[in-house]
Amino acid sequence: MSPLPAHVRVVEVGARDGLQNEKTIVAAAVKIELIDRLTETGLQSIEATSFVSPKWVPQLADATEVFAAIHKKPGVRYPVLVPNLQGYERARAVGATEIAVFTAASEAFNRKNINASIDESIERFEPVMERAKTDGVSVRGYVSTVLGCPYQGEVPVADVVRVAKRLHGLGCYEISLGDTIGIGTPAKARAMLSAVADDVPMSALAVHFHDTRGQALANILACLELGVRVVDSAVSGVGGCPYAHGATGNVASEDVVYMLHGMGIVTGIDLPKLIDTGRWLSTQLARGNGSKVGNAA
Ligand code: HMG
Ligand code: MG
Repeated sequence: MSPLPAHVRVVEVGARDGLQNEKTIVAAAVKIELIDRLTETGLQSIEATSFVSPKWVPQLADATEVFAAIHKKPGVRYPVLVPNLQGYERARAVGATEIAVFTAASEAFNRKNINASIDESIERFEPVMERAKTDGVSVRGYVSTVLGCPYQGEVPVADVVRVAKRLHGLGCYEISLGDTIGIGTPAKARAMLSAVADDVPMSALAVHFHDTRGQALANILACLELGVRVVDSAVSGVGGCPYAHGATGNVASEDVVYMLHGMGIVTGIDLPKLIDTGRWLSTQLARGNGSKVGNAA
């Protein structure tokens, strides 16, 4: 076990991972206000939206409008999801300077989520990575289903290691390891992280837990004890992937920050402001101010 870190960077994914899974399309104005409120909490990384196909994820079809309107605070990162060159071009056209590419350790999930095998998805990223390098755009990489898959079941740790290593080798500055369906427990999370860290430096790893079975905080603690310093979470615990049956919300940012601060770990986040933002978002979602959506697959 490593000593607990003095500082953790929380990557807030609620505006993307949260709102992509809402049954109604949340108005762009609400998304913009959400991101602006999050910026005021002191978060250093706020995932803003997704430049994926609007047919696949209609909830985030307003990515351009939202990204253009948010108040970008100097020093804060606003990554956006990009699945291919088309997404990259849309993101760049509106001024994104950080993107996230995403694939999975499970073939079955990848097929449902992005209609491609793992290798095909990585082939799509190659030209994106080249363009990003030329343009000075930072790239984060996600590996989904690192502790289990809704379609395939068990996911061998060796597959997680192979995909994480490949994304890192392609030039992703950070690899976020996603328990997409919140199926992991601490011992499994620890074994997976420690295997990946044998091949990818711990300083380039992040953890991303969904809280389907209430294991997320325990899993995060297990990973902090191994030396991870970056944790993804979503304000108010919103979230889920429309292409992962049974996936519920991400671990709530408020709970993560409460735990970190309680252990003397600095995040730079104003917890009361974050809690207010979570309450505000819950009120907005309860109003259901949009039309019903169905996802493509
Ligand atoms: P496809 O249908 O195979 O794509 O989808 P295609 O290349 O054959 O194109 C079909 C149509 O989509 C074309 O339009 C393209 O122009 C359009 P048409 O000619 O039919 O009018 N298209 C696009 N439009 C806008 N932006 C684009 C784009 N690309 C193609 N970027 C594709 C393949 C990857 C595009 C699709 O499957 C997709 O967008 N999937 C995204 C699914 C998604 O966003 N899932 C949730 C995010 S992952 C997640 O939540 C997990 C994570 O949180 C970590 C964890 O928890 O594990 C990150
Ligand atoms: Mg997720």
